[in-house]
Amino acid sequence: MNVDKKALEKPWGGRFLEATEKMLEEFSASVHYDRRLYRQDIAGSKVHARMLARQGIISDKDADAIIKGLGEIEEEIASGDFVWSHELEDVHMNIEQALVERIGDAGKRLHTARSRNDQVAADIRLYLREEIDRLDGLLSLLQEALLHQARAHQDLILPGYTHLQRAQPVLWPHHMLAYFEMFRRDRDRLQDCRKRVNICPLGSAALAGTGFPIDREYVAEELGFHGITANSLDAVSDRDFIIEFLATASIVMAHLSRLSEELILWTSAEFSFVDLPDSFCTGSSIMPQKKNPDVPELVRGKTGRVYGHLMSLLTIIKGLPLAYNRDLQEDKEALFDTVDTVCASVEIMAALVARLVPRKEHISRIVTQGFLTATDLADYLVKKGMPFRQAHSVVGKAVSQCISQGKELTDMSLEDLKAFSSLIDEDIFEVLSIEGSVGTRRCPGGTAPERVAEALATAEKKMTHG
Ligand code: ARG
Repeated sequence: MNVDKKALEKPWGGRFLEATEKMLEEFSASVHYDRRLYRQDIAGSKVHARMLARQGIISDKDADAIIKGLGEIEEEIASGDFVWSHELEDVHMNIEQALVERIGDAGKRLHTARSRNDQVAADIRLYLREEIDRLDGLLSLLQEALLHQARAHQDLILPGYTHLQRAQPVLWPHHMLAYFEMFRRDRDRLQDCRKRVNICPLGSAALAGTGFPIDREYVAEELGFHGITANSLDAVSDRDFIIEFLATASIVMAHLSRLSEELILWTSAEFSFVDLPDSFCTGSSIMPQKKNPDVPELVRGKTGRVYGHLMSLLTIIKGLPLAYNRDLQEDKEALFDTVDTVCASVEIMAALVARLVPRKEHISRIVTQGFLTATDLADYLVKKGMPFRQAHSVVGKAVSQCISQGKELTDMSLEDLKAFSSLIDEDIFEVLSIEGSVGTRRCPGGTAPERVAEALATAEKKMTHG
């Protein structure tokens, strides 16, 4: 038989007669990105080797050599001296091959009772568990920044909007706490997702489990997993735990994007509600007056990218028969880019939010314009006995007259107002004030100062006690 010797250089080359096409090597290699998993891969291999020795499957001497060799390889990778090879496809085979070169036959025993299929699933789970914890920390910084803003300008009242039309006045801290709540739920979702990430698939081997007397519980515990997967076919082939993370990350990005959109609007001359620090903006190469809100614009843009990764993984999974299929290698770039994008976005938004400066004078001036307290006038009439629908219509007429005369409701005299309803008395001017309006909204979750102060205290407690 005519065997090309190069075929045998592959760890799986035994049954091959021809060497791999260069084109295929290029096409199928993942090492240029999955090398990111080297720490997790080595951690998993060390525990696997120790377990094999404890179970009498390999000798203690071999396990010791494997663990020592892997430790040295890890240092070499960390220092940047390790030479990665495309021909060895992925991070797993690169490390295994380096181990064999270093310690000989003992290295060749490491892959007993496992497959790259359970290995890669374990590596991703270990990696994602860490990144979830990092993202959670960054989200808490963003929440802190929002709390700082809420605390710093507790009395500021700004227009609240529906349909981006001025609606009713709300407290600035109430507005900040709205985002705090969104990110609180995002963190809950992350913790929930983490539960399903943190399960150990090792021992599932290629697809059917293994005949060696392994100890899956030991491996899981040593690696900090809180349990083992229940079905080997499922464990090597599902990536729903990544999809859950991508979905959660997508929701985080949706929230960041909403905040971004608001900041972009707020920094425009049309709103002029906040100033962003110069150090977080850029100028225009042609228009000297420009100061552009690049950070929120980029975050809004990157949101599309993360949604794309979620779609991509959902699509990759949907047609796969059990069990492992090579398509699954496409999971990693989507995951890595999502992690990078969402972490960087949360981090920079936390820094930016901490430094927002509301234009208080301007906000306080414009908040008295645009009939923001019209609902309060209607509610006033209702409290005096008028049915709400009738009150709504009466106030509508008053607003309409004000618009035609270029006035606000507060510009009208008591007589003018009385012309719309005899129920109106002197106490109406307090009702029509911005402070009066905010002050009445005392129901739980409302924008009254005492409710907001309570909400702020609760939020602060949550941040310190979890
Ligand atoms: N690089 C592969 C991946 O990411 C590792 C598993 C390969 N398994 C296999 N049977 N070819 O999915």
